[in-house]
Amino acid sequence: MAISDPSKRLEAMPPYKFQELERTIADKRAAGIDVISLGIGDPDEPTYPHVVSAMQEAVADPGTHRYPTNRGRDEFRRAFAEFYHRRFGVEIDPEDEVIPAIGAKECIYNLCFAFLDPGGVALVSDPGYPVYTGGPILAGATPELLPLVPELGFTPDLDAVPAETAAQARLMFLNYPNNPTGAVVPDGFFERVVEFAREHEILVVHDNAYSETTYDGYVAPSFLATPGAKEVGVEVFSLSKGYNMTGWRCAAILGNAEAVQAYWRLKTNIDSGLFEAIQLAAVAALRGPAEPLERMNAIYARRRDLVVGALREIGVEVSAPRGTIYVWAPVPEGHTSTSFAERVLEQAAVVVSPGSMYGPSGEGFFRISLAAPDDRIAEAVERMREHLS
Ligand SMILES: Cc1ncc(COP(=O)(O)O)c(C=O)c1O
Repeated sequence: MAISDPSKRLEAMPPYKFQELERTIADKRAAGIDVISLGIGDPDEPTYPHVVSAMQEAVADPGTHRYPTNRGRDEFRRAFAEFYHRRFGVEIDPEDEVIPAIGAKECIYNLCFAFLDPGGVALVSDPGYPVYTGGPILAGATPELLPLVPELGFTPDLDAVPAETAAQARLMFLNYPNNPTGAVVPDGFFERVVEFAREHEILVVHDNAYSETTYDGYVAPSFLATPGAKEVGVEVFSLSKGYNMTGWRCAAILGNAEAVQAYWRLKTNIDSGLFEAIQLAAVAALRGPAEPLERMNAIYARRRDLVVGALREIGVEVSAPRGTIYVWAPVPEGHTSTSFAERVLEQAAVVVSPGSMYGPSGEGFFRISLAAPDDRIAEAVERMREHLS
């Protein structure tokens, strides 16, 4: 064994699928080709000014410069409880039902270590955000994929989960509005999830990364608003997407008090909490006006319509998402997800994500991110019309 050989658990991770794509893009750019990337979901607009001001003020206060606590500041926990009450009609006890996370990604990963033992099982949406599978694998557990069925509104068929798998599972990762499919939760699904989780004693982790990014009058619910949800689950709420704060690393876990405490206990062994100035900026975001979010959603809706319109013109049957910053579309006949993404890159110099990057059930689809400036989206759409018709 060589000095730098990674651990078996790291070796067990699937290869980083974006690596080759990144190399191809870099080569093309080096050759002078203007590549437009619609691959990643990283909002292009800046964080809202009132949040930046709150951060500037907070960072100038030496009181925020010391180690934070993993439990978080009172203001942070109270602001989240108020926000959940006002926005979702959910009662959260700021004492023991909410604590900060250094982004949803950190939280989801660490929940695997808080609740999965080696050999354990997590039920995971497929296609889904990659940490739902990477977290369990790194924890020595097995991610059992739950295919999201288009005919069921991109929800898993819980009746089809084998009894033995359900009996072994400790965690279940779900996410609506959904990345990558753009689906919003169908009526009755969360109720079914609570029933399933109760029956099989599974902790539900609802990844709420996109509830504030919705269109056409759709208002996304919290999973925790479902009767009984707090008995069986937690929700991870991220400020990354709705508040244009991906770089800030700011989220919270809310819900089942025992689960929140277990995550806290784990975290005290791993990190030293979320920078207090960021916690105060989050308070400003959660208590701030709705107008900047509405303006942002109008921007994404405009881009969405542009993309959906162009795809339909070139014969791609696609429905307009009511949430998230992604358009999820079937690849044309005769293509795989990867071959189509390669063709778009070669012919139009536009990067789209092959659906298979998000799990085997993503095969046959591609994802376009709306997180690029209007003129770049318009240019990308023009090129796709020209080269792919
Ligand atoms: C479904 C989902 N969850 C979580 C995240 C990451 O959130 P955060 O920036 O809070 O780590 C993303 C980012 O793309 C996502 O799509």
